[in-house]
Amino acid sequence: MENQANNTEKRKVVFSGIQPSGNITLGNYIGALRNFSLFDDADCLYCMADLHTLTVRQNPADLRKRTASLAAIYVACGLDPDKNIIYCQSHVPAHAELAWILNCFTYMGELSRMTQFKDKSQKHADNINAGLFTYPVLMASDILLYQTNLVPVGGDQKQHVEICRDIAQRFNSLYGDVFTIPDPYIPKATAKIMSLSEPTKKMSKSDPEDTFIAVLDKPDDIRRKLKRAVTDSDGEIRYDPENKPGVSNLLTILSVLKKQSMEEAVSSLSGLGYGALKEAVTEAVIAELSPIQERYNAIISDKEGLNSMLKRNAERAQYLAQKTLRKVYKKVGLYQF
Ligand code: TRP
Repeated sequence: MENQANNTEKRKVVFSGIQPSGNITLGNYIGALRNFSLFDDADCLYCMADLHTLTVRQNPADLRKRTASLAAIYVACGLDPDKNIIYCQSHVPAHAELAWILNCFTYMGELSRMTQFKDKSQKHADNINAGLFTYPVLMASDILLYQTNLVPVGGDQKQHVEICRDIAQRFNSLYGDVFTIPDPYIPKATAKIMSLSEPTKKMSKSDPEDTFIAVLDKPDDIRRKLKRAVTDSDGEIRYDPENKPGVSNLLTILSVLKKQSMEEAVSSLSGLGYGALKEAVTEAVIAELSPIQERYNAIISDKEGLNSMLKRNAERAQYLAQKTLRKVYKKVGLYQF
């Protein structure tokens, strides 16, 4: 990748991250992972944002396991770890180092306006730590270290990409063009997958098990969870997210996975009931996830292979990150040899 970057100056850089803080869900897959292959002609970095997860209490053994698991999921979902840089955030110290510098260029006021901070401090009222507050600064460092052009994220992270742009512009206006200003890339609203039990809320890996389908769920779990998915009482299969959020969510999953338009998905079920809809969704989900799980199992059972991939990719990332970090240190006046 380093060579390619030198030869063809115009290749775009794409950066995204996922926190290894829970089971990776069908929502993460449809909203994020599945789209990452869209950026085949760019230089892409995908990180396991393990430092970010520490803003809420984690079980150490679980965190380690989930980090390795997420790496294997990235690869199992089709991202080639030789073409893309798939790595662990904490393996590249430059993230934390740049975050300190950028903390000094970020205002308390702008951080207090972040909706995720407000939500999370309500949810974890007993642990409103400074990391939770400066979370967006670490995220900005992730992005800016690699001179990123494009950041594929869910709509809930848009505000964090915006503050990243503000910080970068502020820094650049003081010190010259140090950082590339990144743009968010937000997939179409239709690809937003909602909770199975409260379909007006986004499907989230930090909610209870039965509200989401995990990428690694077994067919029986998938079937059981979808059977219990909330629908409504009028019995009509129709896409109407406002009045029929549950049914519409199932239809979204179906149409996305079967690569059908919404009209096609709806008409394929005409005259049928919710049982048939759920059965169709179950089959589509199992068909999509089975090959991923097979690849996943092969990757995760080869621990040495996984570790050597992670080590190699951390080195590639560190090499690129250092270039930006050195420039920043120099610009702000840190003494260097
Ligand atoms: N904050 C993101 C989320 O929770 C994860 C993340 C961390 C990220 N660093 C990033 C996303 C950099 C994009 C770019 O979804």
